[in-house]
Amino acid sequence: MGYKLVNFKTLGDERGSLIALEENYNTPFAIKRVYYIFDTKKDVVRGLHAHIKLKQITIAVKGHCTFVLDDGYDREEIVLDNPNKGLLIEGLIWREMKDFSEDCVLLVIASEHYDESDYIRNYQEFITKVMENEKNK
Ligand code: TYD
Repeated sequence: MGYKLVNFKTLGDERGSLIALEENYNTPFAIKRVYYIFDTKKDVVRGLHAHIKLKQITIAVKGHCTFVLDDGYDREEIVLDNPNKGLLIEGLIWREMKDFSEDCVLLVIASEHYDESDYIRNYQEFITKVMENEKNK
């Protein structure tokens, strides 16, 4: 599936921990946008979309949540629960985020500016796009 889990090196000392992300060094793309998701209400499911072009790395810098990843053939669940764990999504993947802890802060690093036309927000359209890509291979 078009995702990868990335381990970031924790630079720590007796005062605490620190992780640095540097463009094209431990991120595989140039960073155009950073956003964060927080204060997600209990039992809410977010995401529910795929992207055509966008690449993203998501990190639970605080708390935890579960990502459901779907490539049109299989569904996998990934728990993000550590600030040193990044989820890199590069391919055509439908994603849903659920089971947010109350304190969860998701930091997202993105390869493109916000562009609604890059979103596929309808699951059937997503499947159609997956099939199209398969035909054009
Ligand atoms: P949405 O895509 O629904 O969030 P999620 O996928 O996490 O459930 O985004 C919520 C709103 O924020 C929506 O109106 C679009 C807007 N938005 C921006 O303006 N810029 C951004 O970078 C992002 C990610 C969302």
